[in-house]
Amino acid sequence: MLTTKEAIEKRRSIRKFKPDPVPDEVIKALLDAARLAPSGCNAQPWRFKIAKDTATKLKLAEAAHRQPFIAKAPVVLVCCADIQGYIEGTISSIQDLGRTGSVEDRVVTLILERTEKMKALKAEELAPRVAFNVAIAVEHIVLRALDFGLGTCWVRLIDEQMVRDMFGWDKNIHVVALLPIGFPAESPPPRRRLNMNDIIIR
Ligand SMILES: Cc1cc2nc3c(=O)[nH]c(=O)nc-3n(C[C@H](O)[C@H](O)[C@H](O)COP(=O)(O)O)c2cc1C
Repeated sequence: MLTTKEAIEKRRSIRKFKPDPVPDEVIKALLDAARLAPSGCNAQPWRFKIAKDTATKLKLAEAAHRQPFIAKAPVVLVCCADIQGYIEGTISSIQDLGRTGSVEDRVVTLILERTEKMKALKAEELAPRVAFNVAIAVEHIVLRALDFGLGTCWVRLIDEQMVRDMFGWDKNIHVVALLPIGFPAESPPPRRRLNMNDIIIR
């Protein structure tokens, strides 16, 4: 088992996969890592579609502006945000956080008022703020995958509407990313990163 530091340092975006299947219990362990991610007000808006069959993966690769490596991964997770689920999750979970004393009553009231106003917004308007919660869960999967020797690659260059149409989803489901997963058939060197000095705002 890798330490968190090792996983962070070892991770690469993998775009070449061996054909070996990913066992179902491993997929379950990856989704469990997503489930445990933090989210605003503990709303947990992440939802995942597991794609393993070739026809679906080919369509996903097409919807990702023709990035063919996606279809070659044994599993592709379609990582989504449930907009309505975010509102409902916020309302129920913020009350729990208030009851247990983790969050002050004043803050609970403020969040409930804000959430009430969210109900008037369109799904597209809410999507970005819901999406970053999903991104955290996706990165949990990315890092946990390394414990099983698996590689992944975030794919955000997607035609979201095409993906929704494939599965018959409405605008309540915001497609945040695709995550192809499989045993790596490449071991890329570290990609360039900014220096510490470049990332500190002075
Ligand atoms: C939000 C996000 C979207 C990305 N979208 C794509 C994508 O559509 N296609 C792709 O090949 N790589 C994609 N990547 C992978 C990046 O190119 C990669 O993370 C970056 O080049 C750094 O390389 P590394 O992940 O190996 O460190 C994406 C990464 C992130 C975090």
